[in-house]
Amino acid sequence: MKVVIASDHAGLQLKEEVVRVVREMGETVEDLGVANGESVDYPDYGIKVAEAVADGKADRGILVCGTGIGMCIVANKVAGIRAALCHDLFTARMSRMHNDANILVLAGRVIGPGLAAEMVKEWLTTPFEGGRHQKRLDKIKDIEEKVRKSCSN
Ligand code: RB5
Repeated sequence: MKVVIASDHAGLQLKEEVVRVVREMGETVEDLGVANGESVDYPDYGIKVAEAVADGKADRGILVCGTGIGMCIVANKVAGIRAALCHDLFTARMSRMHNDANILVLAGRVIGPGLAAEMVKEWLTTPFEGGRHQKRLDKIKDIEEKVRKSCSN
């Protein structure tokens, strides 16, 4: 599995831990920044990961900012992205089982490295349940299509 990962300055420390954990799991990681603690704007990094996943250049993405909120808002602007801001093992697991989340968003200023590591492992290994949940994802796709059409009119 190829996983693209990025953060802003507020998520840098946790991102480095996440990169380490995902590599340790034997997955291929592409780290799209940020590389140092200088203040940056989270949309510039969130969009890189969202586009890489939406374009099929990566299987999954992980984003980290201070609260996770900004990265989640940005990533979900991209059609085909289902980014989930998770704070615990339950939400990380459910975001895969019910929502087939393709981007995990973490809050670098809220959760610690130990919990984040467990969440990442859970999220990368939990399959989508399909069934009635697929029907709901199809409805999200329909909404994306409707928005796309109204924008091109
Ligand atoms: C940066 O200070 C902070 O606003 C950002 O990391 C994030 O929390 C935004 O949602």
